[in-house]
Amino acid sequence: MPRIAILSTSVRTGRASHRVALHLERSIREAGHEADLIDLDELAFPLFSERLKFQEDPAPATVAFAERVRQADAVVFVTPEYNGSIPASVKNVVDLLVDEWRRKPVGIAAVSSGAFGGTQALMVLLTTLWKIKAWVSNTPLNVPKVKDQFNEEGVPADPDAWAKRTKGFLDDLLWCVEAVRRMAS
Ligand SMILES: Cc1cc2nc3c(=O)[nH]c(=O)nc-3n(C[C@H](O)[C@H](O)[C@H](O)COP(=O)(O)O)c2cc1C
Repeated sequence: MPRIAILSTSVRTGRASHRVALHLERSIREAGHEADLIDLDELAFPLFSERLKFQEDPAPATVAFAERVRQADAVVFVTPEYNGSIPASVKNVVDLLVDEWRRKPVGIAAVSSGAFGGTQALMVLLTTLWKIKAWVSNTPLNVPKVKDQFNEEGVPADPDAWAKRTKGFLDDLLWCVEAVRRMAS
């Protein structure tokens, strides 16, 4: 059973993109897969000082985070859009790891309160993940006007529409997982 880690990356007070992370966690489980919700706000990560593999005395939360990424067959970044880009919390975890990202199937869920569904954050993250050699699925999940679309428990206002979009998003990510599995065997 594929294990998919969902990275909820907003550490902002009153954040709304976490709603999308909750929706994805539920959708992944309902589709019969394993979901591991990694909440960067809960982990309260230190700011990047060096890549983990070069740190002499890494914070336990950092080590545990790396292990969860390693254990995942795929990782979904749920990223808000801040000032036409990604928040520092996202870059903080991408830069931390190296080998863990290499050829890791990754999906991007970009979230905004604006009408364009975090498209600019998506493009910025895509470039960074490409550079670190992650294997990014080519079907993103864009969520515009997030508070209109999902309640605080991550329940969509239009369940049928979001079920269809989420299925397309997960299907392509799982295709990448299967491709990696076959290449490894
Ligand atoms: C510092 C900051 C900058 C933002 N810049 C944008 C932006 O460029 N485009 C946009 O659509 N929304 C922008 N937003 C709104 C966020 O997309 C919105 O807060 C959304 O809920 C996702 O972020 P959150 O999970 O932190 O709530 C910004 C929010 C903050 C806090």
